[in-house]
Amino acid sequence: MEYTYLTPEIINKIEEYKKEFLTKEQVIIQALHLIYSKYRDITLDHMLELSNYLEVPLSQIEGIVSFYDMFRVKRNARHHIRVCKNLPCHIMGCKKLIELFEKLTGEERNQESKNGRFYIETVECIGACSVAPAFMIDDDLYDGTKITEEKLNEILSKYT
Ligand code: FES
Repeated sequence: MEYTYLTPEIINKIEEYKKEFLTKEQVIIQALHLIYSKYRDITLDHMLELSNYLEVPLSQIEGIVSFYDMFRVKRNARHHIRVCKNLPCHIMGCKKLIELFEKLTGEERNQESKNGRFYIETVECIGACSVAPAFMIDDDLYDGTKITEEKLNEILSKYT
């Protein structure tokens, strides 16, 4: 069977994971990571191919995607901003940071993007608590500790 999204590299990796990981769920999670880092998104087509390839129900894959923030389907935007709202980041001022993102992008958190450039999502810990309030834009991780409006504007301008 020919796959559109599961490239030979992705398939080879999945086969390696199958040998390494004990459960099918762990293989699915790793496969989703591969797809996400290649396409920066997990779409229904990606999930359908993966379900077909791994011979698992689509509903199982959809369940994992909706459970993990990391894979949450990117809306209709080119860039995906993720701001951690977990306790350490909350204490360090993520609320202000989120408001700043909303102000500078003209978008609302967790709402479909209006202009198709940014989608802002508030998420649980992204594993960068030492630089709380932490945020990511696509695959880039940022230290939010000393962020100012000017700096954030500069950062955003890199994502067209
Ligand atoms: S709590 Fe925010 S990155 Fe860990």
